[in-house]
Amino acid sequence: MKRIAVLTSGGDSPGMNAGVRAVVRAAHFHRLEVFGVEQGYRGLIDGEMEPLSARSVSGIIHRGGTILRTARCPEFMEPEGRAQAAQQLNSRGIDGLVVIGGDGSYRGAHALSQEHGTLCIGMPGTIDNDIGGTDFTIGYDTALNVAVEAIDRIRDTAASHDRLFYIEVMGRHSGYLAIMSGIAGGAEYILVPERPTNIDDLIDQLREGRDRGKESSIVVVAEGDDAGKAIDISREVATRSEFKHSRVVVIGHLQRGGNATAFDRILASRLGARAVDALREGIGGQMAGVQGSEVTLCPLSDAWEKRTRFDPAFLHLARVLAT
Ligand code: ADP
Ligand code: F6P
Repeated sequence: MKRIAVLTSGGDSPGMNAGVRAVVRAAHFHRLEVFGVEQGYRGLIDGEMEPLSARSVSGIIHRGGTILRTARCPEFMEPEGRAQAAQQLNSRGIDGLVVIGGDGSYRGAHALSQEHGTLCIGMPGTIDNDIGGTDFTIGYDTALNVAVEAIDRIRDTAASHDRLFYIEVMGRHSGYLAIMSGIAGGAEYILVPERPTNIDDLIDQLREGRDRGKESSIVVVAEGDDAGKAIDISREVATRSEFKHSRVVVIGHLQRGGNATAFDRILASRLGARAVDALREGIGGQMAGVQGSEVTLCPLSDAWEKRTRFDPAFLHLARVLAT
């Protein structure tokens, strides 16, 4: 293996830059040439890639976003698009590819390696923490801390006005961020896509809390909840109960930006170095992840076949602690 490439794909997440840096630095350490591909699979198809020196990734370990930029690329879903991408890699003598992204990006990498034999190693980059084969994804810890800080701030004003707040956090298919930020932020109620929402139960809980002396309450809602967005839920509760005057805050993409936490930087650094080692060993079709304290490799397909879900015990814990 002489030449490898690295790209970021799908939704960005804080720590992707630390991951790119780790791949580039580890490659240079082992005397490999490394190309940075612009805008994920879009750049791979269009041949938008340049060699990256060790110095080109200076000063980015902390920065959110991705210096390589990212994209969603429908053309890569088609065999023709992947054939063009493989041709771009082959014409430059690039034998290995590191893909930093979510499970969609791995499906693409899996197809590319199946159809064209390209050695691909994945690194899990998403704030949702829903990728199988790793305990944590790059960006989750940063996004969690952003959400918790937002909840803390809202609690200050909620308590001052005796108000009910609904706070919507990201997670279209995963309640991981919602449950963990809700527990860390001391939420009274947490709504997640993994459990069907019962509005009457929510109202009962709010009443019980009020009867136990709670003058303000915080309900954390995952954006993908089956009962709708936070605004829909607040309206439904208002229609069915005396809780008519609430406020709704959508944290949204704030969770995807900002400096990566030390945890995410260290995770990305470890996984980036492992990804390069795997390619040097001639391994492809795998994802570098962390399980317990170990950096591990697992098949790319584990990312979607063994999706990480939070332990349902956390839902019970949240309820106990809201007493
Ligand atoms: P994420 O990687 O964050 O899950 P997406 O699901 O949007 O994000 O996937 C990112 C990109 O990966 C898509 O725009 C597409 O180019 C590629 N991709 C996703 N699913 C597939 C698939 N089944 N086959 C080939 N490429 C895919
Ligand atoms: O997958 C990461 C994520 O941030 C989800 O939590 C969220 O639903 C989605 O991406 C938002 O994507 P977009 O950037 O397309 O709005």
